[in-house]
Amino acid sequence: MAISRRKTLAMLGGGFIAAAGIGATTFVTTRRPTKALLPWQNAGNYDDPRKNALSYAILAPNPHNLQPWMVDLTGTDTVVLYRDPERNLPHTDPFSRQITIGLGCFLEQMKIAATQTGHEVGLELFPAGDSGPVAIARFSTSATPDPLAAHILERRSCKEPYQMTAIDASRLSALEPYAKLVTESNLVENLHSLTWEAFQIEMATPRTLQESAELMRIGKQEINASPDGIDIGGPMLETLMILGILPREALMDPDSEATQSFLSSYKNMLMSTPAYAVITSAKNDRLSQVAAGASWLRLNLKTTELGLALHPVSQALQEYDEMAKLYDRSHELLAQDGETVQMLGRLGYGPLTKPAPRWPLEAKLLNG
Ligand SMILES: Cc1cc2nc3c(=O)[nH]c(=O)nc-3n(C[C@H](O)[C@H](O)[C@H](O)COP(=O)(O)O)c2cc1C
Repeated sequence: MAISRRKTLAMLGGGFIAAAGIGATTFVTTRRPTKALLPWQNAGNYDDPRKNALSYAILAPNPHNLQPWMVDLTGTDTVVLYRDPERNLPHTDPFSRQITIGLGCFLEQMKIAATQTGHEVGLELFPAGDSGPVAIARFSTSATPDPLAAHILERRSCKEPYQMTAIDASRLSALEPYAKLVTESNLVENLHSLTWEAFQIEMATPRTLQESAELMRIGKQEINASPDGIDIGGPMLETLMILGILPREALMDPDSEATQSFLSSYKNMLMSTPAYAVITSAKNDRLSQVAAGASWLRLNLKTTELGLALHPVSQALQEYDEMAKLYDRSHELLAQDGETVQMLGRLGYGPLTKPAPRWPLEAKLLNG
């Protein structure tokens, strides 16, 4: 059944549930994907210090929330991290650069969390090259707690509009050791356009749109069954889909009302960005990508401590033909000669948001 844009928006605004006589508050609370969020509650509840640190590591940011990690516990003090060969983004991340950054975030969050039990973690990265384990991590007891550990459970990628107020100087100077910060208005405006154009290219390129669409988890049931990918919905959207008023395919069709309305809210979000944070590297090898992930994670924990929101916007940094012009432009704007821009993120004052789903630690352990 096709519905008009005005009607869809009114329904998404909540009028529909009230009109249908459904208790809106009850419905909203029962649609929370509780099971998919359990790993946020279970973090820190393990006796083995390696599992304890890993229970925080699985909460690390990672592209499209694919959670591309697999872990082996060996001996009494060692964790071996593998990249899950099934969890890739062949169209938007053909060289697994972003996947590797996500694994860098995971390792850094594991190291930071381990300090809470007094453990230091020594890393041997890519001991057998790119095809073997990502890291062999050895736990020993000599660490002092890292203050960033206190912010792991509140950290988010905040995908919402930010206030268009300048970030105060004391917060900016606290962040300077963590990333390059962009606050100059001309460059900020250039990045508004760049990120919006890049997002439109991803949406207009059938294979990259398809890659995201396949990762969409819509509504409580789907999110609990596969707590990864792009979780969308909320009670209003879910109701429209359950009732067949908004067909799933509409979200894939670039001309549909649903897509147009999504695009305009995404544009508004991208434009509501007063500043950016950037991580670059001199080389673009695996070690540099893991290091970029570690830097991003520390930055995101520090922004959390400072009450600031952070959101990666990676489209313009992606390596596929249709994006090549914007990839070059992002490097002209943000990198020195020969450098790679590994991460670009929106930075500002944003709302508190809910955590993103995660697979439980047990699903990621290769041996108990
Ligand atoms: C390398 C990398 C690239 C990312 N790119 C994007 C992006 O382009 N757009 C976006 O909305 N989120 C992006 N994210 C954030 C993830 O979507 C997010 O980490 C994931 O959904 C889990 O959510 P959380 O960080 O709030 O726990 C990226 C994260 C990483 C590590």
